[in-house]
Amino acid sequence: MVGGVTDRGTARMSPRPVIIDCDPGQDDAVALVMALARPDAIEVLAVTAVGGNVPLRLTERNARRVVELCGRPDLPVHAGCAAPLIVPLETAEYVHGETGLDGSGLPDPERPLTSGHAVDAMIDLIEARPEGAVTLVATGPLTNVALAFAKAPAVMRRLERIVLMGGALELGNVTPAAEFNVYVDPHAARMVFQGGVPITMFGLDVTHKVLVTDARLRRVREAGTGAAAAIHGMMEFAARYDRERYSAEGGPLHDPCTIAWLLQPDLFRGRECRVEIETDSPLTRGMTVVDWLGRAPEKNAAVMRDADADGFFDLLDDCLKRLG
Ligand code: RIB
Ligand code: CA
Repeated sequence: MVGGVTDRGTARMSPRPVIIDCDPGQDDAVALVMALARPDAIEVLAVTAVGGNVPLRLTERNARRVVELCGRPDLPVHAGCAAPLIVPLETAEYVHGETGLDGSGLPDPERPLTSGHAVDAMIDLIEARPEGAVTLVATGPLTNVALAFAKAPAVMRRLERIVLMGGALELGNVTPAAEFNVYVDPHAARMVFQGGVPITMFGLDVTHKVLVTDARLRRVREAGTGAAAAIHGMMEFAARYDRERYSAEGGPLHDPCTIAWLLQPDLFRGRECRVEIETDSPLTRGMTVVDWLGRAPEKNAAVMRDADADGFFDLLDDCLKRLG
């Protein structure tokens, strides 16, 4: 089993440079908060937004709202692709509300978007750093990331790895076969999984083990900070849909698993696998076909499957208290 797979075996003496590509989305917001709460461990170079949970005009606005909540109005926030590479955009207001950040109580952003397309910003930031220095975290549809591979494949292959929330070994959440991020842009997901950069994949199998129970929700509120109040409102709103749909115990917290792994890899366990993406079948479009039993010699992803959920919420509590 792959344990806390960290970077290329070297102990990190300085914060890990990270680009976060996302479609906020309440759970994307929790991931952003956790990353920005730990500048000792993660240097967020930029946040890039993609159309997904809600249209791009809202995901980029939400990214700026969360970045400002974290006291980082200086942080570059770039808008990327509004629609998938080939299929039309399908959004998820039924989960995230009309704004995509319902429950947050956050004000409108004060500062404007950073100029420059997200894809160009991503490429420039990676090119400006040494080989293997930058880690890319992706918590939405992979359209921006795929386009960066198309535009500058050699630059993208300088990435240390891509840590992404997406896919599933077993059940999907949009169709029985497909998870939302991969379903929305399956062609982009195929390009990224074939891109030649090591991937750490957090699919629904592991994120559904990180459930927002009532007790955990209370603990978030009791952290007592401004960030905690916003996160509490967002988690409570987002959990209602999943709670009704999956279990009375609570709703899964998907995207923050990526950041939690960067901060504390031993919270998760998984296995190096071959992962392929279905793009053509109307029935199984967006399915991640995970070779868990290791028949294929070529592996392209560390697929996470188990999580220490109590340990995750201890880490979240620490982040919320650090952020103040
Ligand atoms: O399937 C869950 C994923 O889809 C999460 O990233 C959530 O934010 C939505 O984008
Ligand atoms: Ca997301």
